[in-house]
Amino acid sequence: MCGIVGYVGPQSALDVVTAGLKRLEYRGYDSAGVAVQADGGLATAKRAGKLVNLEKELSERPLPTGTTGIGHTRWATHGGPTDANAHPHMDNAGRVAVVHNGIIENFAALREELTERGHELASETDTEVVAHLLAEEYSACADLAEAMRLVCRRLEGAFTLVAVHADEPDVVVGARRNSPLVAGVGQGESFLASDVAAFIAHTREAIELGQDQVVELRRDAVTVTDFDGAPADVREYHVDWDASAAEKGGYASFMLKEIAEQPKAVADTLLGRIDGSGSLMLDEVRIPANVLREVDKVVIVACGTAFHAGLIAKYAIEHWTRVPCEVELASEFRYRDPILDQQTLVVAISQSGETMDTLMAVRHAREQGAKVLAICNTNGSTIPRESDAVLYTHAGPEVAVASTKAFLTQLVACYLVALYLGQVRGTKYADEIRAVVRDLASVSGAVERVLETMEPVRQLARSLAGKDTVLFLGRHVGHPVALEGALKLKELAYMHAEGFAAGELKHGPIALIEDDLPVVVVVPSPRGRSVLHDKIVSNIQEIRARGARTIVVAEEGDDAVVPYADHLIRVPVTPTLLQPLVATVPLQVFACELATARGNEVDQPRNLAKSVTVE
Ligand code: G6P
Repeated sequence: MCGIVGYVGPQSALDVVTAGLKRLEYRGYDSAGVAVQADGGLATAKRAGKLVNLEKELSERPLPTGTTGIGHTRWATHGGPTDANAHPHMDNAGRVAVVHNGIIENFAALREELTERGHELASETDTEVVAHLLAEEYSACADLAEAMRLVCRRLEGAFTLVAVHADEPDVVVGARRNSPLVAGVGQGESFLASDVAAFIAHTREAIELGQDQVVELRRDAVTVTDFDGAPADVREYHVDWDASAAEKGGYASFMLKEIAEQPKAVADTLLGRIDGSGSLMLDEVRIPANVLREVDKVVIVACGTAFHAGLIAKYAIEHWTRVPCEVELASEFRYRDPILDQQTLVVAISQSGETMDTLMAVRHAREQGAKVLAICNTNGSTIPRESDAVLYTHAGPEVAVASTKAFLTQLVACYLVALYLGQVRGTKYADEIRAVVRDLASVSGAVERVLETMEPVRQLARSLAGKDTVLFLGRHVGHPVALEGALKLKELAYMHAEGFAAGELKHGPIALIEDDLPVVVVVPSPRGRSVLHDKIVSNIQEIRARGARTIVVAEEGDDAVVPYADHLIRVPVTPTLLQPLVATVPLQVFACELATARGNEVDQPRNLAKSVTVE
């Protein structure tokens, strides 16, 4: 949420910063702005709306060239998305410029204090107070990093701040508390950004910044201290993907590219986690086996799409380990005083590893003595760093706001965790684990086959572009799939979409059924739990009798559904518990195509942001 870039080096700062902002636009696109050091002062430009508005402004009124600069793409919290509220914000003399991600909770008091001392604040934002405070501190100490440390000690809340001062050429200073910030180390140039994607085209050498740290960026030095000025320990790492992974690669949108990458993402997430004999090797889960054997409850916390992955994981964990499992929205978790102790395993699922609601749930769980295992896609992000252990999904960078490949890999990781728990606790025999692992290994090919047969789904989606409502039904693991299908449609097509447990239909939702209402039904396999299958076939008949247009997602060879399906979407045969891995894919394609047909931009849906770093 909010993207930040800083640059010091020999190149045009404006070029580097705007290119970086382009890669970070998924974090927010309410407004964008830049500031560069030039001609002994600071030159800034900012515009409400997407980055293209800023680019247009810069082409009409070019800024002077400079080699040190900062930039910001905003997801509004304090103050609407106007030009005035766009970052960077400056002090009254225009000598310091600052960009910010997060919320400064004590900003009202600080603002009052500043106003009393004669400062004039021009925006409604919490950020502007920082620019004024920095200017005051700088006038006393003439050292931007020190001024930043002094200011940070006065701030409450969550923030990433990046600032430049006209009197300190070739220096950018950043600070971080509870919001992400990474440094990039190049040859004679240095970078700061919310996410490595912003500078990956220039360097793959990164430095992870910790909590409550201040960083001073020069061309050939990156110096990190804590808020008191003591040198801080930092972790340097090499980013194992390159710029092409964060580009569209010929696809019309990141979302289409990421949907297409799912077979590889699923296969990559299994890589190195299964030995030659088909047993699980999760040595990276550093929670000792004896601790896992003592676990008497699993609690999964997550938000959005990751929450749906958690709902599916519950079925696998309880079935394979017989350990009770609860799934909780991270934003609700700590406020209901959950019962946690040393025998509770909390699993936090997050693509970004930065979602504030999930992070707060992790902190609460650890304070109560629970062990926390993170399932995460972003190396070095905050949630895995604050957890006892992490299992990384290997989806590669996910840029589109609506999650696709990360979801599938979260599911794979959840199945691995469930099997691993079964392995260490002895509730699953080795040959049973090997059988599931074999099934998981074949999913990548199955997803590929689904993707090859999506043209009718796209056609159907286009034909429904004028509808107002689509309902989704599912049973068992198909229920969270229905919820995810509905979420995708809401996020992307801005339509009324709801997912229901098919069994609940008769308890209320059936009243919504009217003539020609599209209802997507996720049908479980007729093999295995055939009782589930038969019940959902009855549900399809019930809604069809009331006029619904039925869109049935069913496995190949399931002929029982054919008479009742107005549209039939086939998915490959998979074991019941693994079906979400294939059944979700057509629903992603459906939502993406329908949104496109309605003229929506699928990568950046309105009002949303990918990495939500406020509560
Ligand atoms: C936001 C995004 C969703 C995502 C959720 C959780 O709301 O729009 O697509 O599922 O955050 O994100 P996380 O990074 O924690 O998985």
